[in-house]
Amino acid sequence: MLIEPIIKGVVAKNAHPLGCQEAVKQQIKFVKSAPQIKDGPKRVLIIGASSGFGLAARIALTFGGAKADTIGVSFERGPNEKSLGTAGWYNNIYFKKEAEREQRTAINIVGDAFSQETRSQVVEAIETYFEGEVDLIIYSLAAAVRPKPGSEEFWRSAIKPIGESVTGATISLEHDSWVTNTLEAATEEEAQSTLKVMGGEDWESWIDELINAESIAPGCKTIAFSYVGPEVTHPIYLDGTLGRAKIDLHQTSHALNLELANFGGNAYATVCKALVTKASVFIPGLSPYLLALYKVMKDKGTHEGCIQQMQRLFSSKLYGQEKIPLDGERLIRMDDLELDAETQSHVTEILKNMDENNFQTLGDYQGFKQEFLQLNGFAQQSVDYSQQLNTSDFIKLVP
Ligand code: NAI
Repeated sequence: MLIEPIIKGVVAKNAHPLGCQEAVKQQIKFVKSAPQIKDGPKRVLIIGASSGFGLAARIALTFGGAKADTIGVSFERGPNEKSLGTAGWYNNIYFKKEAEREQRTAINIVGDAFSQETRSQVVEAIETYFEGEVDLIIYSLAAAVRPKPGSEEFWRSAIKPIGESVTGATISLEHDSWVTNTLEAATEEEAQSTLKVMGGEDWESWIDELINAESIAPGCKTIAFSYVGPEVTHPIYLDGTLGRAKIDLHQTSHALNLELANFGGNAYATVCKALVTKASVFIPGLSPYLLALYKVMKDKGTHEGCIQQMQRLFSSKLYGQEKIPLDGERLIRMDDLELDAETQSHVTEILKNMDENNFQTLGDYQGFKQEFLQLNGFAQQSVDYSQQLNTSDFIKLVP
């Protein structure tokens, strides 16, 4: 079969396996030539390992100097009669293939990270492949729902402002169009549910599970990713439901830091740069900001993708340093280049003038869309998309 991108709104409905393979290879190539990670961790668990920051972290730690073995948890779908499956499914497969080529252990656990079953599988894998202990736990989930323990019900995240409504634009990647919408303020229940899905509670329960299973190595660290952003994004992000969940995540990092101190370890929330990922294009109002930010940072030569952010995090902040650089709230800041004053002043200028007629030229829409397509294995120059793919070749592949 021939695979062409099918996009509905901001969701990619299919993926191209060979393009996913190419994207994994490019990220490996980048970290091999970048400043290397010194004194890095050897046994790493990544919860949310199949795309975005989690996948980039896994690639950086395996190929960017640390030579880590990894266990990756993700929620992805494989091929069936109707479709070839998700991009993350193939990212897992091709990452493992490349890692094994360099004699690294790479275990993929595909299942719901919120479930006890997945936790038990992870503990067992740590026993089997890591001699019972992990040196680093990366929590990189971006989920829309979390099952309520012991019930059939779910908490659902709602990306909304708190207090008052906000009007902003989303970009329909399906129609290449600008869609203005007004988001009503979240109810208290919606804000609480979002906190349950994206806040720190589940991160903490993972660490508790691993402490109880005696899987924490001396000096073990844990990190989770957050976003703060400039003022222009605050109404929809920092002051909204997601921001409230992230502040909870920051507070959890302090509690976990105390818990891990018993093992000589640490916990940090790490604030990353805004980037196009499967999760971020969903955030209403953020896309125009991303278009302007990409344009300014690319012009200035300071643009980074997930892989550049992760390699820089591990090589210049988290490992090989006498002291981990933290801000006044004990956060690791990887959004320094995004929040640079000159960058933000140019972004604000562009945003003032951006509308439905000019967003494709004032902002970096081409780069934004290309990156979105590449997340799903499309728009890779070196892949021949006119090539017929044989479904049976991909059904055979095991993550
Ligand atoms: P992503 O959508 O690319 O990756 C999410 C990962 O979570 C995937 O591996 C997916 O399989 C996994 N996942 C989702 N639900 C799961 C479940 N129930 N069980 C197991 N695995 C599950 O997302 P992205 O953007 O890399 O986000 C990761 C973290 O980084 C999030 O906390 C996000 O808020 C944060 N972040 C993202 C920024 C951005 O601009 N994309 C900026 C700063 C922080």
